[in-house]
Amino acid sequence: MSKSPWWENAVFYQIYPRSFFDSNGDGEGDLTGITSHLSHVSELGADALWLSPFYTSPNHDGGYDVADPRNVDPRHGTLDDAKILFNKAHDLGLKVLLDVVPNHFSDQHVWFQSALSAVKGSPERSRFHFLDGKTSTTPPNNWISLFGGPAWTQVDDGQWYLHLFDSSQPDLNWENADIKRDFEKTLRFWIDLGADGFRIDVAHGLVKEDISKNHHDPQGLSNALRLDVEMSPEVRGTLLASVPFFDRNGVHEIYREWRKIFDSYDRPIMAVAEAWVHPPERATLYVRPDELQQVFNFDLLVAPFDDKEIFDCVDRTLKLIGSVGATPTWALSNHDTPRLVSRLGEREARAMALFTYGLPGAAYIFQGQELGLPDADLLDSERQDPAFFRTKGLQKGRDGARVPLPWEGYRSPFGFTTGKPWLPIPQDWEGLTVEKQNGDSSSSMELYRELLLLRKRLNAKKSGDKPEIKSSENFTWTQRPNGSGLIAYKRGEIEVLLNTAEVELVLPRTGRMILSSEHSSSLNHDTSIPRDDLDEKITMSPFSAMWITCDPS
Ligand code: GLC
Ligand code: CA
Repeated sequence: MSKSPWWENAVFYQIYPRSFFDSNGDGEGDLTGITSHLSHVSELGADALWLSPFYTSPNHDGGYDVADPRNVDPRHGTLDDAKILFNKAHDLGLKVLLDVVPNHFSDQHVWFQSALSAVKGSPERSRFHFLDGKTSTTPPNNWISLFGGPAWTQVDDGQWYLHLFDSSQPDLNWENADIKRDFEKTLRFWIDLGADGFRIDVAHGLVKEDISKNHHDPQGLSNALRLDVEMSPEVRGTLLASVPFFDRNGVHEIYREWRKIFDSYDRPIMAVAEAWVHPPERATLYVRPDELQQVFNFDLLVAPFDDKEIFDCVDRTLKLIGSVGATPTWALSNHDTPRLVSRLGEREARAMALFTYGLPGAAYIFQGQELGLPDADLLDSERQDPAFFRTKGLQKGRDGARVPLPWEGYRSPFGFTTGKPWLPIPQDWEGLTVEKQNGDSSSSMELYRELLLLRKRLNAKKSGDKPEIKSSENFTWTQRPNGSGLIAYKRGEIEVLLNTAEVELVLPRTGRMILSSEHSSSLNHDTSIPRDDLDEKITMSPFSAMWITCDPS
């Protein structure tokens, strides 16, 4: 038995509950629907689920507006359904990661409702950030909501409350002991019910620079104004990192306390932080030995399909995360970003998957990424993302990536629901259903299955287990960017090559091709027998990736 923790090389499959599978025909996915279709996840080769929120919520922000963090929203089912889901996942060998949303509650949470009816300066209000304005009509400061518009909303008695996201998501005051206690209770509640860990939403946002002392922060002002226009994710990320409400040192105290809770259990409990921080060195603070086990690395989520950029992201991440002895994490898409295929292109998406999921560390896959789903085109009238409304349509928002999964059949909604899906599934996804891709060796889903199977072999600790690929922790670049478009790395007997160029590359290599983003999968999921002998050279198609055997030395 290997001593390393289960999450170290785990593949986490992110489920967006509303869009996975609808078991009762109301058009919205639910926990029972997830339970009934978990074999899709285990057959893909994932090790764990990450479930986006299913808690009681008015659902103004896809459930990230939590009204009762220790209950299940009726649209998703019941606590019993959650328990059944966790058990079924465990039976299939899948760990269960839940989303915890500690930066804000929904305005429908009882504590916010009682804060609204309480007076200025009351204990009820002190659980949130209620302040007097600069004048009777001007908010306390110029901070902006990440979804557009001001971060402050005025209430009847003239005070303002802070919301870094939608006005229905009041930020919590982590100076308040009630908040700390309540979240500790929530963590224990779900661990006791069977959860194996948490994805921490907006983990970098909990602590704010003292608002009352910084009533008019000049840096906040310039960043706030610039953030309101459309800008590249990189620029946005850099600007957000310098705002006075993100990545304050105080957040780490909170995670040190949480770690103690995790460690108080007999079984290993972990957490991964959603922390958009800058410079990247700041991310390592979240995974210090007494804090969290993982922090998301969003570099590849926004990186263009460019050898130098991809190399830099990977190299930097391995060095930085390695410097604190933590596990690197890799994600190519999630529920907040455009679909991989739409962002990079179809061939590029396949190639990136092969390249990324060979890297050491944990891998995150957003539901539907394995199917090669693109973003769906939606009518503005169908959109639900608060970002769309708060930017007055300037940002289209994230709904296109959140469309329900197509399961089977020839007509939308492709078995997802017997009713009307909450977002329409494009009819031209007919060729992308799970049913259609199953057994089709050229499909994206089969490529992912084979890839994840080989990945397991690559990460296997005991070389005796899997003779085809010797176990290896090590990682070496075999090709750094040199202008050709090729980058490559080696782990043990496997070399992973990525051609980002628009042209075919002929490379001097001996070895055998195991997997290619351009070739059909072998559909041979039980064994991984290297095939296709390579002679003295290999030819790589434009925008492709390949796994080949190589000399381990
Ligand atoms: C995180 C979530 C996103 C949500 C936001 C506010 O970034 O991933 O979906 O809108 O937090 O909770
Ligand atoms: Ca349902």
